[in-house]
Amino acid sequence: MKQVKNVAQLREAVAGLSAQVALVPTMGNLHQGHLTLVRRAREIARHVVVSIFVNPLQFDKEQDLQAYPRTEEQDLELLRAEGVDLVFTPSSETIYPGSMQSQTRVEVPAISHIFCGASRPGHFVGVTTIVCKLLNMVQPQSAVFGKKDFQQLLIIRKMVQDLAMPVKILGVDTVREADGLAMSSRNNYLDSRQRQIAPALYSALQAVADSLRQGDRRYSTLEQNAIELMARAGMKPDYFAIRRAADLGEPEENERNLVILGAAYVGMARLIDNLEVDL
Ligand code: PAF
Repeated sequence: MKQVKNVAQLREAVAGLSAQVALVPTMGNLHQGHLTLVRRAREIARHVVVSIFVNPLQFDKEQDLQAYPRTEEQDLELLRAEGVDLVFTPSSETIYPGSMQSQTRVEVPAISHIFCGASRPGHFVGVTTIVCKLLNMVQPQSAVFGKKDFQQLLIIRKMVQDLAMPVKILGVDTVREADGLAMSSRNNYLDSRQRQIAPALYSALQAVADSLRQGDRRYSTLEQNAIELMARAGMKPDYFAIRRAADLGEPEENERNLVILGAAYVGMARLIDNLEVDL
């Protein structure tokens, strides 16, 4: 496995890869969820490139950026064991030379400003900007993202479609702990008491999915019940919503492809999760 840190080295290394390349963009602190993305990438392409970059542009709070876990040595070991071809570990200066504030940004309007975008202003502009840059730098045939960040995945798909970027975007199912908690680097922030509370988010999603499957279409009542369930479990709910899976629009009563999205604080950790429901 080769590690490169700047764009010239990256381009040279990618040019040396003979065939299909899949990119897995990450912010490091890798867990089984990331490794599942890597394995999916391996299934669809001959070569796998992984980027590790804690992107300052997508953090709305400096404190959150500083606290984000950085475990590069351990990450490289895991990627080596997965047979990854190339790892790109740029510095902030490589990605945003000069002042980050003066950099060109990529914005997908509307769906970037609801849910996680409303709670974290500027977050998705940071995500689309870095993903666009990484896709331009690596020029892979495909790129793989987790469905845990469902809103992020839709926004990236829309960016790629709107900007006619020649890359296939693949979404991979969320990997969960035995009690249903979606794997996330942010789970590291939970102490043992908070860790016991955390699966309540997934339980709320499942309860709402069950009600929908039983024919209950009182969307706002179901959302409110879920918020109360999370609050009773000891979480501080941020949002909980039932939306059209295709574009996060408000669903009609007969909508068949729904997604239930939720976010809640447990201590300092902000957890997000979702469930797609096809009726
Ligand atoms: O999902 C993430 O880890 C990040 O948002 C991404 C896509 C790597 C961009 O920094």
